[in-house]
This record gives sequence, structure tokens and C-alpha cells, in this order.
Amino acid sequence: MESIRVLLIGDVVGESGCAIVARHLPALKQKHALDMVILNGENSSNQGRGITPKISQGFYDSGVDVITTGNHIWFRREIYPYLDEQSNLLRPANFPAGAPGVGVTTLSIKGHTVAVINVQGRVFMKELVDCPFRAMDSLLAYLKDKTNMIFVDFHAEATSEKEAFAFYLAGRVSAVVGTHTHVQTADERVLPGGTAYITDLGMVGALNSMLGMQKEAIIQNFLTQIPVKFTVDSNPPYVLSGVIVEVDTQTGKAIKVERLRLVDEQPLGI
Ligand SMILES: [Fe+2]
Ligand SMILES: [Fe+2]
Repeated sequence: MESIRVLLIGDVVGESGCAIVARHLPALKQKHALDMVILNGENSSNQGRGITPKISQGFYDSGVDVITTGNHIWFRREIYPYLDEQSNLLRPANFPAGAPGVGVTTLSIKGHTVAVINVQGRVFMKELVDCPFRAMDSLLAYLKDKTNMIFVDFHAEATSEKEAFAFYLAGRVSAVVGTHTHVQTADERVLPGGTAYITDLGMVGALNSMLGMQKEAIIQNFLTQIPVKFTVDSNPPYVLSGVIVEVDTQTGKAIKVERLRLVDEQPLGI
């Protein structure tokens, strides 16, 4: 049996998150014999919101194959034309027609076609995106004759919506991984039908932060209800979170899923 091994990394926050990816990804690829890397970059710009063409290129240079995003993709406008040019930088597929970019891509890994899809949830999310479940039906019809190796980043808040989405797709895709909450869950498993699943991959950034941001201002916001400015936390230690999924290239079914959580105490000097 031939398989591919894919690392999926959760939301990368700010300059420090990007630097941690650059510091560790080449060695992780070797250590875990990875064939492909998918990373969520929606918070990778300096402000912790959005992504730029330069940051995207930095991820590709570090060994990332596909960048997924989410609700924060629209924060940096310089990414809009780049989204139309770069097929391996995705935005959620279920944004209404007319939004720049696409939410699905295919690429060749070890001579096999592999698809990556990015979709956003609707529960407790501000954006009025189209139904993610029905969006998946259309995307899977489009991929039907192309490949059965399909990885889905579901960018959503509610555990109920994420589980329902995963069970809806069980047996139809290779993996469903959640992003957006930045807190890694411990429920990784292969669902009946052969779909690897985790409710949230977690994040890459300062470990003792709040979702990658400095905690002090956020605590003040909870205490006073007065709006505050969120600032990316660049202090060590750092965490890099995700899962490694192994998929049978013949059937497209997941064979196993392992959680990855790396903590790095070494300062970055940022
Ligand atoms: Fe995020
Ligand atoms: Fe998000």
C-alpha cells in the first residue's frame, strides 16, 4: 500500500508565528517523512490579521504547499490581486461570488493529484457566507473525476458545527481539520468511513498569549468592556500545533492521524 503523509498546521499568528514555522518546518518534514504541508495563514501578518504576498512567499520557501485562511483574509488589501494569481493560497470557498480568489486547489504530490479545500462556518461567525455543507457537495462534485485524496480546512467557531460538518463528510474526504479557535483540541481520530478529524488544530505563536495576542489588554476589555487594541505577543515560549495525517493513495482514506504540539523556549529576538 502506498500512502502520503500530510502535516496540517493551525492558525499562524504574527511575525513570531511565521519565524517559528521557518525555524522548525524543514526539520519536521524530515523527521516525520512528510510529503505535503498545509498551513492556515489568516493571522500571519504583523497585526495578527490577514496575510501579505511576502509572507505567503516566506511560507512557500519554508516548505508549505498550500496556505488556507478564514475570516481574516480580507484585512490586508494587497492580498486581493495575489489571491487571484496564486492557486495555492485559498480563501473560504463559500464566500459569495465576486470575492477574490478561490477555495479549492489541486496539486501533484508523489505523482498523485491531491485536493485542498477551505470552507468557513456560520455559527457565531459574523460573515454571512453560503451554507458550508452545500458548498462541500458542489466542491466534491467538481473533484469527483479528479481525485479521492481531499483535505478540508473548516474555519469555524462552534464545536457542534465542526462535528456535524465532519460527520457529514465522513467517508467522502480524507481529512477535515478545524481552524479559527486557535486552541488545539484532543479529539483527533479517524471517523468511520476513513476521514481523519480534529475539531481544532491549534495555533503557532506565543504559548502564554491569548490566541496569539498579548493577554493584558484583553483582560482589561473583559473587566471594563471598553474597546482595546490587540497586539501580537512575540515572547517565548512558542507553540507550533497541528496534526499529521497519513492517507492511502489508492482509496483516499485516512489510515491514521497524530496530533503535533511542539513547544520552543528559544527566543526569536523579535
Ligand atoms: Fe485565526
Ligand atoms: Fe479566523
